[in-house]
Order: sequence, then C-alpha cells, then structure tokens
Amino acid sequence: MKILSIETSCDESAISILEVKGGIKNPTFKILGNALRSQIKIHEQYGGVFPMMAKREHQKNLTPLLLKVLKESNFLNTKSETLNPKKLKTRNLKLETILARETDLLVHFKKHVINIKKPAIDLIAVTNGPGLEPALWVGINFAQALGELWDIPLLGVNHMEGHILSVLPNKKEFSISNFKFPMIALLVSGGHTELVLIKKFLSYEILGKTRDDAAGEAFDKVARILGLPYPGGPEISRLAQKARTSHLAPLNFPLPRPMIHSKDFDFSFSGLKTAVLYLVRDMGILSDTDKEKIAREFEDSTVDVLESKTKDAILKYNVKSLIIGGGVTANKELQKRLKLMSKKLGVDLYLPEKKMSTDNAIMIGISAFFNFSKTPASHRKLAQSKAGRKKNEIKAEGNLSF
Ligand code: KG4
Ligand code: ZN
Repeated sequence: MKILSIETSCDESAISILEVKGGIKNPTFKILGNALRSQIKIHEQYGGVFPMMAKREHQKNLTPLLLKVLKESNFLNTKSETLNPKKLKTRNLKLETILARETDLLVHFKKHVINIKKPAIDLIAVTNGPGLEPALWVGINFAQALGELWDIPLLGVNHMEGHILSVLPNKKEFSISNFKFPMIALLVSGGHTELVLIKKFLSYEILGKTRDDAAGEAFDKVARILGLPYPGGPEISRLAQKARTSHLAPLNFPLPRPMIHSKDFDFSFSGLKTAVLYLVRDMGILSDTDKEKIAREFEDSTVDVLESKTKDAILKYNVKSLIIGGGVTANKELQKRLKLMSKKLGVDLYLPEKKMSTDNAIMIGISAFFNFSKTPASHRKLAQSKAGRKKNEIKAEGNLSF
C-alpha cells in the first residue's frame, strides 16, 4: 500500500510518501518521496517555538512540500477532464469549509492542488497530537482537504508512537518476530521526556514523564542562558565535547542530578536549568572555557538522570530491548552511554538514524501502516468510505497520550 503522511506538530513541516510491501508481521518500507521544511531560523530569534507563527509557516510550507513529494514519487499529474460547474461549485464550497481557518493554505490549495490528478495513494496519515494545537490543525485540515478532494481515507497518528515505531525498521531484517519484548522506549525531545513500557507490539504504558521541562527544552533554555543560539541541544553538546577533549577541569560547583534517586520514573529538569541560571549569575562574566565547563556539567547531569532511570526501568521490568527516540537522541554522549549500558545488560538497542530522530513525516507513515493494518477489515472499509471519514473526523489533541 502507499501512504501519504503529514507532520506539523511543532516547528517542522513535513510530508512523505511511503510504499509498504508485505503484511504487518514483516513489512518493507520504501520512501517514494520525502520533504521537510524546518522553521528553526524563524523561531531562533525568539529562543523557542511560537504556536501562531508555527501555524502561519505550516500554511506556507505544506503545498510546496506536497508538490515536491508528488513529483519525487511520479504522482504529479494534472487533470485533463473539466468538472461541470455545479460539481465544481460544491467541491470548492466543501474545501472552503474545511480550510476556513487556514486562509493562506486555502489560497495555495486552490491555486496548486485542486487540479492535481488523484494519486495512487491508499491512505493519508496525519499527526493529531501531542503538539501545538494551532500547528496540528493545519496538518489535519490539509489532510482533510486532500481526503475530500481525492476521496482517500484518513488516519490520525500519535506523534510519540511515530518516534517509537520509526526506529524498528532500522534493523535490516525487519520482522516482528525478531523483536524481544518487553521493550522500553525512552522518548526525549523538545516537548517530551517519557519512559514507555511496551509489553507487546503496539501496546504502551507510560512509566514516567517529566513533571516540568522536557530534556530538550532544558538544553534549549540553558543554551539561552549561555548566550548560545536556538536550538540549544547541538550547541551545548558541541561545547561539552570541547571541554572533554581539552580535558578541562570540572566545575567547582557540580550541578544537581534532579530526581535521580526518586524511586519512580518521573523526571524534572526545570530545577537544573535554574541551578545553571544561579551559577552563571554567581560566576559573573563567562569566558569560553567557563561556558564549555558548564555545558559539559549540564550535559553530564541530564545524561546521568536519563541513563539511571532507563536502567532502573530495564531492571525492574526485565526488559529485553531499548528504543530511543526524539530530537535529544542525536546527543552523542547520551548515545554512547546508552550503547554501553545496553551492551552490559544484554539488551537490544534501537537507535534512530539522524534524519529520523528529529520530527519527520516518515515516522508518521510507518506508524499509520501498523495502526491501519491492525484494524479489523470491516473498520478499514468504513474508514475508506465517505461516511466513515465524516464519522471518524480527526481532531487535534495537544496533550494526546498513550
Ligand atoms: O524531536 P524534536 O526534533 O522536536 C520536538 O518534538 O521537540 O526535538 C528537538 C529538541 C530540541 O530541544 C533540541 O535542542 C534537541 O532536540 N536536540 C538535542 C540535540 N540535537 C537536538 N539535544 C541534545 N543534544 C543534541 N545533540
Ligand atoms: Zn518529536
């Protein structure tokens, strides 16, 4: 089957087209088209993501991204037939209703999308949460407009499940029977820090999550305190690495490891950020090496906590496999420690490729495939009908959880 997937939960607008062969037990995924536009440059000046600005940018980005992926997949053909005026009017009215809140997108849609011939796509998948609601709605309404235009079924996808499932096809021989359960997923991004227990395929239980800031958010905020650009993760990481390779002496005042001994699986990174703030205030003007030392100590602290809680969860639940997902998994120190720990404990480790660790639409397509395949055939039929589409209208859920 072929799946067109859309991701707009935060500051990346992304669309991909996947071809999936084989059944749910051992599918193979081929990326026919993939396009992404990051809004980092736009949000950079504000030091974080502004929901209404993200919404505006998604509206601008989605149509060009769609045209790009359709072209890459050889699906970009325009219609030769002309609709009769009455049908045309009804269709335009419907699209105007669906895109009533996305006025910029409606303009692009009418200009560039309406005349594209229906591509051979079986399913349109779109992230419906968790994320920034105004941003999520742009993707959902766009998906709904495409579903209406081409009469293709739609499926809402949980962004966090996307991060988890996208890691699995990484191993060469993808087969569900090769996975060892129970698994733990450590999800660490700008918006989330969660430990999820997966006792069997597609079944999730959150063991713990952050009580305040997410790990990536803490990286971003500490970077801001140190006068480094957004997103802060890669910058902090670069400075921390410098401190390690040049063997700088550690800070005189070590930072706390919040909740490391809390005996549960929750996290808290807000106090750590405040500790950096006070430290910087007390240190006065910072030299480059001061910044490198602070970056290293902060990174060590975050990684210590993430590693320790993940290890506790692995031991408590007799876990056989560890998945890590989300933007912070690009952190080399975290990767190194988790690789070492998994090896020591004899646990299979699933790491995302770089392009799959940050937000993308491929992971949404992969997740959609598994979820669509597991639904009974009768439900699938319903989803494929117009009535079913209406009944299962997708809604943005900013706090969507497992
Ligand atoms: O998953 P993601 O792309 O978007 C969200 O859903 O949030 O994650 C982005 C986050 C940002 O906070 C960024 O600073 C962090 O991932 N990040 C890193 C690194 N690269 C990106 N954090 C630590 N070390 C890195 N190398
Ligand atoms: Zn994400």
